Amino acid sequence: MKNNKSKKRITVIGVGYVGLPLACLAANKDYQVDGLDINKQLTAKINKARIPFQDSLVKKLLAKVVKNRKLRATTQEKVIQHAEIVIVCVPTPVDENYQPDFKPLIKATETIKKNLKDKQLIIIESTINPGVCEEVILPILEDKNNKVGKNFYLAHAPERINPGDLKWNVANLPRNIGAMSKEGLTLAVDFYSDIIEAKINPMKSIREAEATKTIENAFRDINIAFINEIAKSFDQLGIDVVDVIKGAASKFSFMPHWPSCGVGGHCIPVDPYYLIRKAEIAGFSHDFLKLARKINNEMPKYTVEMVQDELNKLGMAVKNAKIAVLGVAYKADIDDTRESPSFEIIKLLKDMGAKVSTYDPYVKELSSEKDLNSILEKAEILLIATDHKQFKNKLKPIVLKKYQIKAVIDGKNCLDKEEFAKQKIVYKGIGR
Ligand SMILES: NC(=O)c1ccc[n+]([C@@H]2O[C@H](COP(=O)([O-])OP(=O)(O)OC[C@H]3O[C@@H](n4cnc5c(N)ncnc54)[C@H](O)[C@@H]3O)[C@@H](O)[C@H]2O)c1
Repeated sequence: MKNNKSKKRITVIGVGYVGLPLACLAANKDYQVDGLDINKQLTAKINKARIPFQDSLVKKLLAKVVKNRKLRATTQEKVIQHAEIVIVCVPTPVDENYQPDFKPLIKATETIKKNLKDKQLIIIESTINPGVCEEVILPILEDKNNKVGKNFYLAHAPERINPGDLKWNVANLPRNIGAMSKEGLTLAVDFYSDIIEAKINPMKSIREAEATKTIENAFRDINIAFINEIAKSFDQLGIDVVDVIKGAASKFSFMPHWPSCGVGGHCIPVDPYYLIRKAEIAGFSHDFLKLARKINNEMPKYTVEMVQDELNKLGMAVKNAKIAVLGVAYKADIDDTRESPSFEIIKLLKDMGAKVSTYDPYVKELSSEKDLNSILEKAEILLIATDHKQFKNKLKPIVLKKYQIKAVIDGKNCLDKEEFAKQKIVYKGIGR
């Protein structure tokens, strides 16, 4: 696998937040990469070397690999027929009832099956619960002439990227890999060892590899839910949760997590449902995971109730109050709005009759105002839903005083509480 690199061809199916950085990385390591996607605008953009979303690696490599023709994006599935490795990076969302939606994964697998090439290595990077490769993907790929481990290989290498992270990216994150045969595992490990500068951990089975990613995100969801619950408790007890977390973090075993107005993104609020459902079918109820999901899903509502309380204390009602929601992206300094708590916050406030305006420097198309200045001019109350650097740097109490802002609800606990007290502007964080 490590020789004849220039002859090796890869198809990455789904060139979004996960697939495009991977495609750029492999192309930069001399692989010939086709990025196959159903989104024509996206493929056109990539071929013009226009960066479709915030990602430091894509920013660094896209122009180079498009220019030297190592990466080409396409909507033509025939490219699969020329690939030695096919990597699947399509979405794995949940439906409106929080049930796993395997449609994109099934569709992508059917496309591979139609174009399957002998001895092809198929790697699933999409996040899936244990059992999906064997029970959903394999039955589509296998038939009497095509057997796994013989005519093709199937592996799972769950991706761990964290959009907007300047330190960790696809090139330096350690990877767990599982496969359905010994040869498949060797081929997959060789490939990732060639492109990634981090530890590659071959696992005993594909099911274990699937399970690692699921528990990583469930672990995070549970810890966030725990701290959100503590924050709600401390709101009643009058204790500042941020100060307490900082204190507790001086203990060797305490891992700080931070409360907020909600959990967003394509991973944490989605992936636990895959395990919950799979275990339910097997007769096990993940009560802990379900409770974590419930607590985290309720945070936007809790935040809006805080707005209501603070307004009432000021002798105001939510109805007709001019409320500026700052931030639509689900986290700081990125443009990803998937599962962002801002949407529910905005909906709840509007349902209560508030006059809501919105601004996000990274998501202009969903902002009602063109810049920070214009939203501050209109607002009486600010609700910080995303801790973008711009907000942290510019929303100083002394500035807000000039705009006659009456109260700030800090859904990310990212502003300086003491400074607000000095300027006599009402400040309320989550648990502080
Ligand atoms: N975004 C993250 O931070 C992250 C991190 C780790 C893992 N993951 C997992 O990786 C997977 C992909 O997530 P993402 O954030 O890149 O999603 P995304 O929506 O950004 O990208 C997925 C791409 O797949 C394309 N697509 C959908 N169906 C297709 C098909 N049948 N054929 C070809 N293309 C198709 C879409 O058009 C889209 O461009 C998910 O399973 C997700 O849980 C995401």
